[in-house]
Amino acid sequence: MARSATSQTDAVGSKDDDLPGVPANMNTLLKDPLLQISPMQLDDVAAVMEIELRAYEFPWSEGNMRDCLNSNYYCCVYRLDDRCIGYGVMSIGAGEAQILNICIDSSMRGQGLGRRLLRHLIATAGKSSADTMFLEVRASNLAAVSLYDSMGFNEMGRRRGYYPTESGREDALMLALSL
Ligand SMILES: CC(C)(COP(=O)(O)OP(=O)(O)OC[C@H]1O[C@@H](n2cnc3c(N)ncnc32)[C@H](O)[C@@H]1OP(=O)(O)O)[C@@H](O)C(=O)NCCC(=O)NCCS
Repeated sequence: MARSATSQTDAVGSKDDDLPGVPANMNTLLKDPLLQISPMQLDDVAAVMEIELRAYEFPWSEGNMRDCLNSNYYCCVYRLDDRCIGYGVMSIGAGEAQILNICIDSSMRGQGLGRRLLRHLIATAGKSSADTMFLEVRASNLAAVSLYDSMGFNEMGRRRGYYPTESGREDALMLALSL
């Protein structure tokens, strides 16, 4: 059954962020007590949309974001000292979770935050009794594809020409992770 966006705030500096090989400055940020993941509220949508519009060539509309929030989707916001720095949107139901959006503000990337947010979504889906997580990603989105690959996602297939681009269409990779 889908979980509503009403779970407890998740303080992020957990032990599993102490990864061998993770640069010290990355660990420092991930351990910052002001870094938190919490449920997205309607009040967050404006800040979330600013990040969304910066992040994607073909962004969601504010209506898309509000629909997810008003539906029974799991929507969370990543905050640093109360500033929104990222967000995740996921549907959960019938034993399956689908990541619909995961985004870190462009100025905050490359510091381990995307991996930590993905871990949070995976843990949340697992607690909600989902046994498989699915997502679709643009084949050209090398940062996201690399992140998913490193977290154990497998390519299940490809949707040819699924996404629009400035010059035409591009494929979506369909990825899955056993939880
Ligand atoms: C994908 C995204 C969430 C990653 O967030 P991030 O905070 O920069 O990622 P992290 O710092 O946690 O890095 C985790 C892994 O992602 C991959 N990665 C991140 N940035 C990368 C880059 N510029 N090039 C290649 N791989 C990259 C690497 O595998 C990295 O692991 P490593 O540090 O051990 O090499 C971020 O780039 C983003 O928000 N992009 C725009 C929105 C988007 O495309 N979302 C995915 C939609 S399917």
